[in-house]
Amino acid sequence: MRDFSGRRIVITGGSSGLGLALATELAQQGAHLGLVARNSQNLDQVTRDIKQKHGSGTLIETAAVDVSDEAACQRELNLLVARLGGIDMLINCAGILREGHFQELSTQTFRDVMDINLFGVLNASRALLPALRTSQGRIVNIASIGGLTGVFGYAPYCASKHALVGLTETMRCELKPQGIRVQLVCPPEFDSPMVEALDKYRTPENKAHTLTIPKHDVQTIVRGTLKGIKRGSFLIVPGTMAWMASLGMRHFPRIQHWVVDRVIASVYKGPQK
Ligand SMILES: NC(=O)c1ccc[n+]([C@@H]2O[C@H](COP(=O)([O-])OP(=O)(O)OC[C@H]3O[C@@H](n4cnc5c(N)ncnc54)[C@H](OP(=O)(O)O)[C@@H]3O)[C@@H](O)[C@H]2O)c1
Repeated sequence: MRDFSGRRIVITGGSSGLGLALATELAQQGAHLGLVARNSQNLDQVTRDIKQKHGSGTLIETAAVDVSDEAACQRELNLLVARLGGIDMLINCAGILREGHFQELSTQTFRDVMDINLFGVLNASRALLPALRTSQGRIVNIASIGGLTGVFGYAPYCASKHALVGLTETMRCELKPQGIRVQLVCPPEFDSPMVEALDKYRTPENKAHTLTIPKHDVQTIVRGTLKGIKRGSFLIVPGTMAWMASLGMRHFPRIQHWVVDRVIASVYKGPQK
């Protein structure tokens, strides 16, 4: 994909954080957008903001859909794509985060995170497969660096993102013969409403662990993601330091564990129960 001009791009989670930042940049580069999130008012506001910034001629369609609802994805995402006149790329960016000691978090919390971070990607991707096959398009799944390693306090999140990495690896080899390219993005922590909410309650161990890679600004993640998409890379880890850390996680796990264990020990408080 040389450029995004005129491309019809559906972004789940397009009303906030990374999804919104990608939508804004892609609108600037002339893409036609289909934005998906649960809150319709936020979608309307974001549409107005992007059109105000990049001209009222920008084509933006929206669908208020919960991606964990398989039937709603089948119905509403196909209507969305019909309004867009087709689809060239699906960016699965919708996600949630819950932090805490794994022995204290409820089983329901694990299920909620899996329902959106894993099954949400499955539902949206399967709903739009026929349309993507027609366009010989691509699917970009936003996982996390937490899909490549364990992170203190992120048991449900890491479980969901590791599962998403496995799903994406498999989608890549199953969909390539069908002419659909699949790409995986594993960003480090970046500033977003998700992290703002997390900062209000996260454990000190989680904060210390995640910040062994300094927090990135969302524009760095957008640049790295779009560059990787254009290049056709399968695994995209935006940010130079995060990329180097990801190599350490995969090839030198003993060194990575040694560093992380020391960082955690320096702030350790532990669970209350
Ligand atoms: N922020 C980070 O540090 C970080 C690091 C690595 C990876 N990531 C990943 O990057 C993605 C975006 O994160 P972010 O920080 O930008 O999050 P964010 O600001 O909280 O935005 C999340 C977006 O997803 C939508 N969403 C959530 N649940 C949904 C559902 N069930 N159905 C449809 N849409 C849903 C939200 O809208 P509604 O609430 O209206 O549905 C919102 O538009 C996530 O997959 C996250 O795991 C984030």
